Amino acid sequence: MLRRPRRNRKSQGIRDMVEETRLSVKDFIFPLFLIDGINQKVEVASMPGIFRLSLDLMLKEIEECLTLGIKAFDIFPAYPETKKDKFATESYNPDTFYLKAIQKIKTTFPEAVVMTDVAMDPYSSDGHDGLVHDGKILNDETLEILGKMSLAQAQAGADILGPSDMMDGRVGYIRSILDEHGYTDVSIMSYTAKYASAFYGPFRDALDSAPKMGDKKTYQMDPANYYEALIEADLDTEEGADFLMVKPALAYLDVIRLLKDNSNLPIAAYNVSGEYAMIKASAQRGWLDGERAMLESLLSIKRAGAKVILSYFAKEFGLLEKNR
Ligand code: PBG
Repeated sequence: MLRRPRRNRKSQGIRDMVEETRLSVKDFIFPLFLIDGINQKVEVASMPGIFRLSLDLMLKEIEECLTLGIKAFDIFPAYPETKKDKFATESYNPDTFYLKAIQKIKTTFPEAVVMTDVAMDPYSSDGHDGLVHDGKILNDETLEILGKMSLAQAQAGADILGPSDMMDGRVGYIRSILDEHGYTDVSIMSYTAKYASAFYGPFRDALDSAPKMGDKKTYQMDPANYYEALIEADLDTEEGADFLMVKPALAYLDVIRLLKDNSNLPIAAYNVSGEYAMIKASAQRGWLDGERAMLESLLSIKRAGAKVILSYFAKEFGLLEKNR
C-alpha cells in the first residue's frame, strides 16, 4: 500500500498539523435574553444553563465573556404580556428597558459588538413577526414599524441589526432608513435563509413569544427547499446586507455550504435554542458526552462554511478554551 491516510492521524501532533478546521472564541456571537428589573436571573426551563437576565447581571455576564475573548452579543428582550400590542409600539419607545440596556452596554463596553433583533414578535400581542390583519401576516405594512425599531436600536448604539422576520424587502428598507439618518456605519446581518423550524421551541419559551394563532410558514422558509435560499441571498446582497445568515444550523449545513460557495459575504449560522436543548437534555441523562457533542456540532457548522456562529454554547466554549 503506497497510500496510507492513517499516517496523518498517528499522533496528536500530526493530527493538529493537518487539522483543517479550528474553532476560536472569535467565531462566536453569544445570544443573551434580557428582562426588566434589578438582580433578576431566571433560568429558561428548556435551556439548562441559559438565563434571562436583568441589565445589572447582564453587564457582569458580558464582562466575564469579554475576558474569555467573546466579543459579540445578540441581545433579545423578553417583555411581559402587558407591554405587548398589535403594533409592537413598545419596540421603539425610547424609554423601553431594551433600548436603554443597549445604550448602557455600549457605553460600559465600547469594545463589545452589540447585535439587536429587528422583528415584531417579542412586542406583538399576536406573537407574530409582522402585523396581523384578518388572520394574514402583512408584509409591506410592517415595514414602517421595523424602520422605527431599527432607527431606535441604531440610536441606542447597536453595531449590527438582525432583521429576523424573513419577510420581503427588509434589508433594503432598513438600509435606506439608516442611511437617511446618518447611520451608514450600522451593519445588517440578514436572516437570509431562516426556516420554519421546530427547533425554535425553547427560544419562544424564553421570550413567551409563540404565535397566538397559526404558524410562521407564510414567511419562514420551507425546510424542503434548498435553491430558494439562493434567491433570498441574491436579494439580501442587492439590498445591502453585510452578512448572510442561515438558521437553524445543524439541520441546514448544506444550505450554509451553498451560500458560502455562492457569496463573498461572510456567512453566519444560528445554532438555535432547540439544537442547544437537544444536546443539554441528552447530556443530563448521561446519554451523550455533552462537551464532545457540543464541540463536534460547532465544528461541523464552521466546516460547512460559517464564518460567524451564533450559539448559546459560546460562553461554555470560551471557558473550555481558557482551561485547556
Ligand atoms: C424571531 C426569532 C426567533 C429566533 C430568533 N429570532 C424565533 C422565531 O422565529 O419564532 C429563534 C432563535 C432560537 O431558537 O434560538 N424573530
